[in-house]
Formats: sequence, structure tokens, C-alpha cells
Amino acid sequence: MTRTVFVNGEYLPENEAKVSIFDRAFLMADGVYEVTSVLGGKLIDFAGHAKRLERSLNELEIKKPAVFDDLLEIHRELVRVNEIEDGLVYLQITRGAPGDRDFVFPDPETTEPTVVLFTQNKPGLADSPAAKVGMKIVSIEDVRWGRRDIKTVQLLYPSMGKMMAKKAGADDAWMVQDGHVTEGTSNNAYIIKGNTIITRALSNDILHGITRAAVLRFAKEAQIQVEERNFTIDEAKDADEAFITSASAFVMPVIEIDGVSLGDGTPGARTARLREIYLDESRKAAI
Ligand code: PDD
Repeated sequence: MTRTVFVNGEYLPENEAKVSIFDRAFLMADGVYEVTSVLGGKLIDFAGHAKRLERSLNELEIKKPAVFDDLLEIHRELVRVNEIEDGLVYLQITRGAPGDRDFVFPDPETTEPTVVLFTQNKPGLADSPAAKVGMKIVSIEDVRWGRRDIKTVQLLYPSMGKMMAKKAGADDAWMVQDGHVTEGTSNNAYIIKGNTIITRALSNDILHGITRAAVLRFAKEAQIQVEERNFTIDEAKDADEAFITSASAFVMPVIEIDGVSLGDGTPGARTARLREIYLDESRKAAI
């Protein structure tokens, strides 16, 4: 089956979809994105993603596209026509294609934002074997720009970070700034000590994860303490458990940091419980 994608108001077979070579995201990474997961054919936390998308657009002064209010319908239609039971919807909005390269932003009156959405089919997304095995993490310096709260498509360093981890025999990297963990290459980072989850507080240093917000809410409801504060890699190595969250990985255990096993080196019980609660509650609220 050829995948159907959405480009600037049209549903098209993926091989007919086109974006200009002058698109600002292609030339300058001038665009924002969202990834929304699909479980059982329904969208997880769509409202949270739409709200963050609007904030990202506002922060970069990118005009809201005309289809902004139709995004839920477009997501649903792509999930329907591509027969996605479990998977992801990727959405990207860029400052558009002014027809030349210029550092000055194009006039929003004459240059429309580019809107692209496509699905990724991932059967059994919530039953990923990695959730049972756990992830190995290496630490790397965080050399990204200072507005990581905006979900831009400027993902070269996170992608390089992922490759540094793979080359070191690990699964992902946690980035460190001034001695403290910021986040994973494409996820938020947590440690657990006793009955307390510790994760960096929200600021411009990290992406305000939609999964993070839900998991911290569920944790508090389950009487698990939450401390939003900085932590170091040494503190993480000494933690009882660790995990990451993202829209595509949900809650995923971490079993090793820079070669040091956490606890008994297997996924922790509290992390497993949080994953279960997150998946149950998210499926219930999916639309
Ligand atoms: N990444 N931090 C970073 C740097 C991220 O790229 C992501 C998400 C997160 C988690 O945010 P959320 O829970 O809203 O997915 C944190 C997506 C999944 C990606 O780039 O594929």
C-alpha cells in the first residue's frame, strides 16, 4: 500500500509529494515539528501536542497556517487511510518557501507556511522489547542552542549524539550542561531514588515533553514523590532506577549509564509500573 501524506492542503501518495528547494526548513532548519503516537488507531495526547506546536510557532513568529484548526481531522484522516493501528504521526510546519535564500524572514503576507504530515506504521509500538531489556546510556556534552524549549527541526546534534551512543555500544545519549543532565537526544531524562522521581525542571534548556507532563501527573496521583531539579551523571549512576520519556518511547527504562549498571542491571519495578500506568491512562484518553 502506498502511503498517503499531507502537503499544503492536499492528500497525496508519498511519491507525488513535493516541497520547494527554497523551503526555509531545508535551507535554514526554520521549522517546527510534533510527533504524536497512535495506539489502537487513536491519537495519544493530541491536545498537548497541538498546544506546544502553537507555542513553538509563536516563539519563532511563524504564521499559523490556514489549516491549523483542521490538524486533528488531518491526523485522523491520515491514520484512517494508512490503516495505522499503532504508530506515529509526524507533523512539520516551516516558515515556507520565499523563492530565494535570504537571512531576513520572508513577508508572512506573501509566503505561506509549509505544512507536511505523514504517518509511520509501527505495529506493536507499546510492546517494544526494549521496554523489557532497558537502555544503555552514555553522557555527552550538550552543545545545542539555547532555545531547546522550541521544538525545531534543527536536529543535527541530537542525531550526532545518537550516533556517538551507538558507536560506544549504547542506545542513546544524555546531554550534560555545566555538569547537569539536560535531556536525552530525543526524550526527557529521569532518575529514581527511593520513592522519588528526579528530573530537570522546565526552562529553555529542555523540551517541555508532553509525555513528561502526563507521567509526572500520574506519578503524583500514585503517591510517588516528584522533585524537579538538576542532577549530575554521578548522581544518576548511583540512582535506584532511571528512565526516559517521549511520545514514541512512552516510558522506557535505563539500565546503564556510562558503563555503570543501575540497581541489579535490569529495568526497575517503579519504572515498569509508571509505564503501565502511562499506557493505560493514555489509551483511555486517546481520541
Ligand atoms: N522527540 N526532548 C527532546 C529533545 C525531544 O526531541 C523529545 C521528543 C522529548 C520528549 O517530548 P514528548 O514527550 O513531547 O515526545 C524531549 C520526538 C519524539 C522526536 O523527535 O521524535
